[in-house]
Amino acid sequence: MAYNGLQERYAGLLAAAKEAMARAYSPYSGFKVGAALLDDEGHIHYGCNVENAAYGPTNCAERTALFRAVADGKRPGQFDAIAVIGDTEEPIAPCGVCRQVLVELCPPDMPVVMGSLNGKWSVSTVSDILPGAFTPASLENGSAKQ
Ligand code: THU
Repeated sequence: MAYNGLQERYAGLLAAAKEAMARAYSPYSGFKVGAALLDDEGHIHYGCNVENAAYGPTNCAERTALFRAVADGKRPGQFDAIAVIGDTEEPIAPCGVCRQVLVELCPPDMPVVMGSLNGKWSVSTVSDILPGAFTPASLENGSAKQ
């Protein structure tokens, strides 16, 4: 029962990510990605990739959703799940930079739902997708405090 409930919740979040995917601005790669970030009040923050002619400024769907949520008033830790979707053979894998931002802003055990337009999906957690991460706690004994 709980498993089915979770599956439905993940399916709903993936459907929201798919909506966001349609809004991607990706004229250079032609690769659209969507993300849906669920916060602790039940609100969904949408994200898509936004590319740039200079390439480097490109922002991934996951970070768009996370940064948008922070700008809308959410604080680190106030997130319950994120879903990401792309047109990939296997469930899409968030990039390393987005994994680092997830570690900064989300609880370590928060589910990360990865999906594909072909219907395949998998779930991991923030800490499992970036083992050995540099975290805010890593700064505590650093030179910034001296
Ligand atoms: N991209 C994302 O938005 N999220 C991912 O998880 C993987 C990659 C974007 C960045 C770029 O606009 C395009 O996909 C191709 O890398």
